Amino acid sequence: MHNTQPWSWHVGDHRLDLYADRTRQLPVSDADGRNLVISCGAALHYAIAGASSLGWAAATEHLPGPDDDHLAALCFTPHPPTREAVARAELLRTRRTDRRRFIGWPVPTILLHRLACTTRYGTASAVPVTSLVERLRVELLVSRAMFAEDADQRFVSEQQHWVDGVRRATEGIPSENATPGAVDRLRPTRPSRFEDRGDRATDDDSATAIPPSSDGLIVIVTRDDDPASWLDAGDVLCRLWVAAMEHGLSLVPVSQPIEVPETRDSLRFDILHGEAHPVLLARLGWQVLSRSALPPTPRRPLDEVLGT
Ligand SMILES: Cc1cc2nc3c(=O)[nH]c(=O)nc-3n(C[C@H](O)[C@H](O)[C@H](O)COP(=O)(O)O)c2cc1C
Repeated sequence: MHNTQPWSWHVGDHRLDLYADRTRQLPVSDADGRNLVISCGAALHYAIAGASSLGWAAATEHLPGPDDDHLAALCFTPHPPTREAVARAELLRTRRTDRRRFIGWPVPTILLHRLACTTRYGTASAVPVTSLVERLRVELLVSRAMFAEDADQRFVSEQQHWVDGVRRATEGIPSENATPGAVDRLRPTRPSRFEDRGDRATDDDSATAIPPSSDGLIVIVTRDDDPASWLDAGDVLCRLWVAAMEHGLSLVPVSQPIEVPETRDSLRFDILHGEAHPVLLARLGWQVLSRSALPPTPRRPLDEVLGT
């Protein structure tokens, strides 16, 4: 989240251990560490997929303990890479969070169902939001969460710090990635946490000001609301992203309705009928074909995230 890259890897003999780096946790918007562990789950997915494309199979143990921040242990054995593993790693390498406005084509309901039902890992899975009423309710929850966070100066300062804020060039989100629509002079049809706050609907008019959106919506859910489940959710996020890319779709994670307890509860009970815990929302849609590729989001140097 916010390209905090909250992980630390320890290298052993044919072995990698993943640790959460709590110094990179966002204390205001992610006090529980949910987004931090989901981010680490995504990094874990990348490590396994990358190794697999290079000829290494990983036996993985989650939360091997006793340290709660020791999220996973990977033991590698040689295994010839398949063509699928190489193609998958290439998709992951070129993946970006592309926040530019999608074209107006709605994502077909059947495609959203297919993407969701083929995407699960451990206790995490994906639930499509397809009925008109529920889509509108989810959009309202997104607006309410944004309004709540905008009204809290602590959220605003935290986000500003990580988006073109007081940081090094290898972390956080550069403005050309946070608001790329501004470069193309596109006004997003959907609300984005990084857009100019002056352009947003206020809480009073949010019910009527929600623009008609054709974005596909999928909620990533877990059986429990704990670190083991959040780690699985990071894996599901990557699986969903790759599956979406295979259909030419772009995906943008939206965590604000989960960050705010009131909207998280509404999502859980009003939309998911209390059957699962929502941990991340994803917007899906198609980018204009001729649109330029986005620059990669920067990453910290390897020697900073790898230790022995
Ligand atoms: C748990 C989680 C929550 C995120 N929430 C949001 C969000 O609310 N809005 C958004 O635009 N991007 C969100 N993102 C996307 C990250 O900002 C993005 O993955 C990060 O900056 C790295 O950039 P990249 O995806 O291009 O590699 C989220 C990502 C994760 C893993």
